[in-house]
Amino acid sequence: MTKPIPTEQSIRVEHLVKEFGQGENLLRVIDGASFSVAKGELVALIAPSGAGKTTLLMMIGCVEEPTSGKIYLGSEKVYDNKWLTSETRKIRREKIGFIFQAHYLIPFLTVLENVTLLPQTNGISKAQADEKAMELLEYFDIGEKANAMPSELSGGQNQRVAIARALANSPEIILADEPTAALDLSRSVDVVKMLKKIAVDQNVAVIMVTHDDAMLPLCDRILKIENKKVISLTTKEVSHV
Ligand SMILES: Nc1ncnc2c1ncn2[C@@H]1O[C@H](COP(=O)(O)OP(=O)(O)O)[C@@H](O)[C@H]1O
Ligand SMILES: [Mg+2]
Repeated sequence: MTKPIPTEQSIRVEHLVKEFGQGENLLRVIDGASFSVAKGELVALIAPSGAGKTTLLMMIGCVEEPTSGKIYLGSEKVYDNKWLTSETRKIRREKIGFIFQAHYLIPFLTVLENVTLLPQTNGISKAQADEKAMELLEYFDIGEKANAMPSELSGGQNQRVAIARALANSPEIILADEPTAALDLSRSVDVVKMLKKIAVDQNVAVIMVTHDDAMLPLCDRILKIENKKVISLTTKEVSHV
């Protein structure tokens, strides 16, 4: 008999609570979310608009401070009712790759410069950063666009650059907020398949917010915000959402 493959947790959240405002304006967006995501897993995060998907990603990404609960990234506990480090920015830079819907490439930098910016900020030499960036751009079939400006690329190409950029600092976790929202169906499928390949090849956990049901079967599992908590569903269970 073969042994089950151990699934190493990359993200674990326990009893996470997030409130905005106070007094009469207090808004509890997340009310005790607990879940984990394993390395190599591509998980979709779904919920209606305003339900707290972006807020949840931003807490995991050490951008938004939770109200209470616990967050583990890899083997490190980073939040336990307070940040356990004064260096949340360092954790964010070193462990997390962000991909956003509007991809936010810096318009006055070339494709290559966009991808190498963060590694260079992290102290990687220009030569090393360039080499890794070219590898990534070639992996995504846009190597020949390295010296182009973002405005010279199509939407799909821009999104591939944004994914290459998110991978440039070899993150342990990728957080993607509606990365396919601006793309047509076939490009959306390409991007999601790419994210799955990255999850497996680089052994990273990927959480992807999506409103597009067509993307769900391409994911390993679905996390859904329901009643301000997070439930885990198989892709079959959400065929009707
Ligand atoms: N900085 C903030 N201050 C106050 N309320 C906020 C803030 N950020 C988000 N919210 C509120 O939290 C809720 C969840 O927002 P968000 O996480 O952006 O939802 P989603 O990404 O699922 O659309 C919304 O009601 C939003 O208005
Ligand atoms: Mg959002």
